[in-house]
Amino acid sequence: MAAQHAIGIDIGGTGIKGAVVDLSTGELVTDRIKLSTPKGGEPEDIVATATELLAKLEKHADGLAIGVCFPAVVKNGRTMSAANVSKKWIGLEAEKLFEEQLGRDIHFVNDADAAGYAEARFGAAKDVPGVVLLTTLGTGIGSALINDGVLVPNTELGHLELNGHDAESKAAYSAMEREELDWKHWAKRLQKYYSHLEMLFTPDLFVVGGGVSKNYEEFLPFLELNTKIVPAVHRNNAGILGAAALAVDLGVGAAPAK
Ligand code: BGC
Repeated sequence: MAAQHAIGIDIGGTGIKGAVVDLSTGELVTDRIKLSTPKGGEPEDIVATATELLAKLEKHADGLAIGVCFPAVVKNGRTMSAANVSKKWIGLEAEKLFEEQLGRDIHFVNDADAAGYAEARFGAAKDVPGVVLLTTLGTGIGSALINDGVLVPNTELGHLELNGHDAESKAAYSAMEREELDWKHWAKRLQKYYSHLEMLFTPDLFVVGGGVSKNYEEFLPFLELNTKIVPAVHRNNAGILGAAALAVDLGVGAAPAK
């Protein structure tokens, strides 16, 4: 297949990452550039950092389609939640704001949905029939629900209430770091979380993404589930890849679905 390149930008609670990707292979074709997410996660600051990142990438990628993924519910180009960024994002016309500042049309999507799309297209969920549930374990917990390759967006399963707590506040990778848990102790929390997901969705496959998935051997073996659970193939690059792929597959600047 001929190389088709696009730019993916993944906005996270701690870092903003981007690269040019080859959509025929799912590989990054430039180095991944990472800038720190500005403290407070305010809209103007995040958009300014994304603009700085795009300028670095565009030296070798002028005119490519751009996909941006973000850690919030994204509905018709608006961010409808804000768990690990400023509350100013709630209800904001975020896609439009990025487009105005970047001077280009973009495709804008939830970060975990982008990661799920990437794993379904190029990774651990490729050609997997039935229900796949991808979760990203990072600053928060993101989720992507895919049935027979079709994504159901904005599932927000990191915010399930478990034992009176928002699940991500106890089971995200940031909780392990914050509370200085060892792998085994953290895995106990993951066990509760994934058992609950299993009870609700009876998935055919769990895919675990986020940066910590590179250490999957430290925690996945502790989990006892009826469902197969595997690390994401694209680890922490899945958001970049999925955002770029969606920009080409669904188009940039398209009128939002009503
Ligand atoms: C947000 C989700 C996001 C996830 C991972 C959660 O706190 O609510 O929208 O996908 O973090 O970044």
